[in-house]
Amino acid sequence: MIVGGKDVGERPLILAPMEEVTNPPFRKFCKRYGADWLYSEFVSADALVRSIDKTVRKLTIEDTERPVTIQIYGRFIDSMVEAAKMVEEVKPDFIDINFGCPVKRVAGKGAGAGMLRDVPLMVEMARQIVQAVNIPVTAKTRLGWDCENIIIDDVAERLQDIGISALAIHGRTRSQMYKGEADWEPIARVKQNPRIKIPIIGNGDIDSPEKAKEAFERYGVDGVMIGRATIGKPWIFEQIKHYLETGEKLPEQSVQEQVNIIKEQILLSMAWLDEVRGLFHMRRHMACMFKGLPHFRDLRIQMLQAPDIQTLWEVFDKIVERYGAMDLEDLEG
Ligand SMILES: Cc1cc2nc3c(=O)[nH]c(=O)nc-3n(C[C@H](O)[C@H](O)[C@H](O)COP(=O)(O)O)c2cc1C
Repeated sequence: MIVGGKDVGERPLILAPMEEVTNPPFRKFCKRYGADWLYSEFVSADALVRSIDKTVRKLTIEDTERPVTIQIYGRFIDSMVEAAKMVEEVKPDFIDINFGCPVKRVAGKGAGAGMLRDVPLMVEMARQIVQAVNIPVTAKTRLGWDCENIIIDDVAERLQDIGISALAIHGRTRSQMYKGEADWEPIARVKQNPRIKIPIIGNGDIDSPEKAKEAFERYGVDGVMIGRATIGKPWIFEQIKHYLETGEKLPEQSVQEQVNIIKEQILLSMAWLDEVRGLFHMRRHMACMFKGLPHFRDLRIQMLQAPDIQTLWEVFDKIVERYGAMDLEDLEG
C-alpha cells in the first residue's frame, strides 16, 4: 500500500493512535511483533505551539519505528498549521489529523470528532495543513456525529480532493463513543466509491485474526488499524499476520512468555517515565492480560495493586508457578 508515495507494506496492520498508550516504549513492542505502521498518541496543537514540555516529548520517534505517524488535534486552523510545521521538523513519515476523538474535552470544543459538525472547517483545516508541510498528511475520523448524520462518504471525497493521502475510518459515530459494535458497511462503501483513490484504513473492534481477515476480504479495506486489542497483547500483530499468510493460528504465548514480555515492557515504561509513573502506567496493560485463567482473581488483584517492582516480580513468579504448565489454547479471551 502506497501512502503519499511511501510504501507501508501490503495489507498493513497498523497500530491505532491511543492517548497514554502508544508512547515510544509501547510502540517498540508493537513493532517487534509485526505492526507495519505505528501512530503516536494524539498531540495537542495548542500545547505544542506553547512548547509545553510534556507535549513536546510526545514528538519523540526513532528511526527503527518507521513508518511512523505523529497525530495532532486542535480546533484552530492557525495553531494546527503551526503545530504541523513543528511536527514536520522531527521527521515522522506522516502527519495525521485527528477528526475522530469523541471525548467531551476535545469534541465538545469542536476539535477531534467535533469537526464532523463543521465539515467546511474540517476540510479547510486539512487543506491548509497539507499546503504547509512537505510530508504526506493523513486523517482519521468516524462515520459522522450521530446515526442521523452519517457523512463519511462526502467527508472522504472532500478530504481526498484537498490532498489527504490516506483516510482511517473508525466504524462508529461520535455519539456512540466506544459503545455497540463498529459498523464496517459504511467503511466498505467508501472503499468501493469509484471516486476514491486514496488508501482506506478500516478501524473498530478488530481483536482476532479472523476479524482482520474479514476486514480485508469482506470489507475490502487497504489497511487494518488495531487499537484496544493491542493493550496487554502487542503480539496480536504477529498472530494476525501469521493467519493472513498461512491460514493457520499461532499458539498463544505461554504464561512464562507473557510474563517475560510484560516485565520488559514495565522496565521500559519506567525508564521512559519514572519508576512510580512507569509502573502505574502499565496497570492498564496488565489489567488486559491473563484473561480466562481460572481462579486468577487473587493474583490479579495483587498484580494490579503491587506498590513496587519487587512485589510485582514476586506476583509474576506466583503466576508462573500456578499457571506455567497450563495449555492456554482452550481459554477464552
Ligand atoms: C485509551 C484510548 C485512547 C485513544 N486515543 C486516541 C488518540 O489519541 N487518537 C485517535 O485518533 N484515536 C484514539 N483512540 C481511538 C482508537 O485509535 C481507535 O479508533 C478505537 O479504539 C477503535 O479501535 P479498536 O476497536 O481497535 O480499539 C483511543 C482509544 C482508546 C481506547
